[in-house]
Amino acid sequence: MTRTVESNMTGVAIPAVVHHDVPAYLASDEALIHLLDRYPAHLFDINRYEFDAEGQASLTTGTRGEAGGRAVLEAIKAGQLWVNLRSCEDAHPGLWAEVQQAFGKLHPELGVAAKGLKAARKITGQLILSSPVTRVPFHFDAAGVVLFHLRGVKRVWVYPTTEAFLPQAAMEKVIMRATTEDLPYQRLMDGAAYRFDVAPGQALTWPLYAPHRVENQEGLCVSLSMDYQTWASRITTGAHRANGVLRGRGWTIHPMAQTGWAQRTLLWAASLVFTRLGFVKNNIKDFERTFDVAAAPAQAGQAASVQPKTETAPVARRRAA
Ligand SMILES: [Fe+2]
Repeated sequence: MTRTVESNMTGVAIPAVVHHDVPAYLASDEALIHLLDRYPAHLFDINRYEFDAEGQASLTTGTRGEAGGRAVLEAIKAGQLWVNLRSCEDAHPGLWAEVQQAFGKLHPELGVAAKGLKAARKITGQLILSSPVTRVPFHFDAAGVVLFHLRGVKRVWVYPTTEAFLPQAAMEKVIMRATTEDLPYQRLMDGAAYRFDVAPGQALTWPLYAPHRVENQEGLCVSLSMDYQTWASRITTGAHRANGVLRGRGWTIHPMAQTGWAQRTLLWAASLVFTRLGFVKNNIKDFERTFDVAAAPAQAGQAASVQPKTETAPVARRRAA
């Protein structure tokens, strides 16, 4: 894999899997039902992905309605759902303490990622509950990620960060949240990917911005995704945002790998101004919730049996692996 400026500064150079000791009982049915009954509604995302024969994805989003924790958990087990419980660092302090402790023991194994995290400006976590047969499409995250896996088996494909897999112009649009278009993906790209079957007790991390996709393999899958920003990643992401604005106005944009830190910092500063001036428009915002777990618990996970009330939107929300 080509080393990038980003991976030298903020994360591992190649994907790495290590062992962690976050207790598995935190992902037991009883613990999850207890949690789902109490988790703040505004931190709760329910997504359902549908894929065509070429692996292209579309997304519908749902709501739990009046469904209790047990009903939500059963809907996840039976369907094709992807549920994110955001801001675990605030809303689930017990799990977060375990994850932080586990991470503390992983510093030597995670190498460069540990340096990145030491310098991290913002660390957040989301607990991901996903159906045994569901998938997450090809995408990248504008943050460093360590995925602590707790239950089930998840196959994670991690791709190079080169232009062929992560076109800079497409990346800028995603960072700007200016389009609902996703990164281009073709199955033949899998030949260049790292592939991991991640089991409970393992944690996976990858280079900053590395595109990835997920195919659940076995059982209800539960993972805690720790996302972190460093000054280096924040400045680089801001530089991409500024480049997106400038590209849209006809400027010639240089590859980020050839853009030094002084220039990146200037671009980052410009991005703050552009945002303040309203040049960076979020065109996707929140999708309308199109299905209700409480209203149709038996069908909520079945793609074919729920008719969305509005159009489905191509995948563009923040996703965790
Ligand atoms: Fe992700």
